[in-house]
Amino acid sequence: MANDRERWGSRSSFIFAAVGAAIGLGNVWRFPYITYQNGGGAFLIPYFIALITAGIPLMILEYAVGQKTQGAPPVALKKIWKKAEWIGWFAVVLVFILATYYATIMSWAVNYFYHSFTLAWGRTGGEINAFFNQALLGKSGSPGILGGIQWPVLVGLAITWILIYLALFKGVKTLGKIVYFTVGIPWLILIIMVVRGLTLPGAVEGLNFYLTPDFSVLLQPKVWLAAYGQIFFTLSLAMGTLIVYASYMPEDSDISANAFMTSLANCGTSFFAGFAVFSTLGYLAQSMGVSVPEVTTSGLGLAFVTYPTAINLLPVASQLFGALFFLLLLTLGIDSAFSQVEPVVGSVVDKWGLNKKWVLPSICILGFLVGIPYTTRGGFYWVDIMDHFVCTYGLTLVGFLECIVIGYIFGASEIRGYINSVSDVRIGPWWDVFIKVITPIVLGVSFVMQFIKLVQKGYSGYPMWTAFTGIGLVIVLIIISFVFSTRKGGNP
Ligand code: PHE
Repeated sequence: MANDRERWGSRSSFIFAAVGAAIGLGNVWRFPYITYQNGGGAFLIPYFIALITAGIPLMILEYAVGQKTQGAPPVALKKIWKKAEWIGWFAVVLVFILATYYATIMSWAVNYFYHSFTLAWGRTGGEINAFFNQALLGKSGSPGILGGIQWPVLVGLAITWILIYLALFKGVKTLGKIVYFTVGIPWLILIIMVVRGLTLPGAVEGLNFYLTPDFSVLLQPKVWLAAYGQIFFTLSLAMGTLIVYASYMPEDSDISANAFMTSLANCGTSFFAGFAVFSTLGYLAQSMGVSVPEVTTSGLGLAFVTYPTAINLLPVASQLFGALFFLLLLTLGIDSAFSQVEPVVGSVVDKWGLNKKWVLPSICILGFLVGIPYTTRGGFYWVDIMDHFVCTYGLTLVGFLECIVIGYIFGASEIRGYINSVSDVRIGPWWDVFIKVITPIVLGVSFVMQFIKLVQKGYSGYPMWTAFTGIGLVIVLIIISFVFSTRKGGNP
């Protein structure tokens, strides 16, 4: 079976695909607002520490597991340890849920792209706020009230799923070519945005906020948790994506250099994107006569409220910059979006030996249908809630379990032997220490702390029942994963 497995066209297309999966809305939409919410420059230190203590070690681990076993997550983990198949399924069902709300955020960007040609989002900050919250999302005021469907969001969602389908249906060789564009174009646009941002009046204030460390913030656990969550999200860890991508590589391909390259390219992009965002925020602060931390309070909405405000305030070519910016979000997001679908498709194909030709469209249609509730008036809140439960609980749990299974049951030093036998850059025994001790402790502690906070306070001011729904969802997903893992495979 290994021989007729799909293959990347070349090592560089694998790296581009892995970088493309990593770089996404997480860099341009999530990184800025998480940084903004957690003290600006202060956040960069825990972020960097999270990259070193969890990001890179786990990325090396997932590449190794995928490549060594030549299987999608459930099959891969089963080969590592017979009883671990369900962990692979858990990652896969989580990434499926993630894909459904990720596509919704893409749909917002599709709508903004469409409106950027006429700057239909309005002139002032207040108008744009109203455009996002009322005209586009028609926010109901509470997650308990779904209200009706917002048709433009539904149309955007359909467009997004069609794009995902088109990108994937030709297989990974074509995928390897598409990603040259979906990684290349955003970088060009990003450079333009950074240059534009840096030359705006007030930019320096924004950069000061972004780059000046404030060590007192390091005492707050929430900042550390946010940093680990962001690293998982942005590197696409614990989602099956990296395992399935690596499984399309020949068994003797390099691992460690690839992992260093993708993680540094990804975090470098976030850091770079930060210059565009914070210089623009500095401009915004100056023109509104407030300080940078006072410019906005909206988390999830930062990219969709603040950017257009800033774009409007540009002296020239607002339409062009608006269109470029949302094109940037879309091209960045699309390769992440299809990298969320590929592990689902790959897992079903690998386990039951079904034909990809039918599995792919079925998964896309299912993803679209599951996403419909997010297009309702209460949908925004559910995007927020799902993001929290998937990223905070799901991802840390999967990462923790992977460390235990590989570290103790399979043997960290054993898999490191394999990694070193194929890689250019040798990794030392420090890696074993991370996988067996440091990473699981960090993840375990952060899981427990978040959980305690959740049962005490609920999530983000939403009614308590939403927290129980989230917990219930995670439990249901675990049960589904067990059920899948006990099913007989058709492709041993
Ligand atoms: N890393 C992607 C981003 O930053 C999101 C992602 C998560 C992609 C999980 C694949 C799997 O946008």
